[in-house]
Amino acid sequence: MNIAVFASHGGSNLQALIDAVSEHRIAARICAVISNNSDAQALERARQAGIPAYHLSTKTEGGDEALAAKLTDVLAAAAPDMIFLLGYMRMLPVEVLRRYRRRIFNIHPSLLPAYGGKGMYGIRVHEAVVAAGETRTGVTIHRVEERYDEGEIVAQTSLPVLAGDTAETLAARVLACEHRFLVDTVSRILHGEIPCGD
Ligand code: GRF
Repeated sequence: MNIAVFASHGGSNLQALIDAVSEHRIAARICAVISNNSDAQALERARQAGIPAYHLSTKTEGGDEALAAKLTDVLAAAAPDMIFLLGYMRMLPVEVLRRYRRRIFNIHPSLLPAYGGKGMYGIRVHEAVVAAGETRTGVTIHRVEERYDEGEIVAQTSLPVLAGDTAETLAARVLACEHRFLVDTVSRILHGEIPCGD
């Protein structure tokens, strides 16, 4: 199966996927990595691994419509069976959401629906979890639908918030958990345990 990845920043989740593919832990190919950010380390990680890497944004393409058309073309050429948003900070155009219905997944560093939605990204998620005195947090993988926050949750795992955790220590533990859980979940999709597509 071909996997396309969208990522805006570090791409440590992308790296976990690249490693799992190269070590034959999952039988898949990463066919394209797309970022809205030219500085994204994710693009560099893709290039290092010999994966086609694209910097595409409204600025590079000259507007929303042009970007939607370009993304549609790049994806059509890459022919992904599934698309993963791994820290992608933009909305996908509706054309893409429709064309790849039930094939697009996002990873989020909390137990959604808790600590999701507008403004809940990066360290803010973990700050809110610690501030609320939660005893557990986790990782959620959900489908990306036209109504962005309402995508079906396909996989979730939880881990404890430890006494003395700061947002930073918690963020590091959740991210390490994400790397394992992402590979595990992609493997379940590849084995048909989680449906992909209509
Ligand atoms: C992860 O925490 C992911 O859940 C969120 O963005 C972060 C991306 O991290 N959507 P990285 O770029 O994979 O290191």
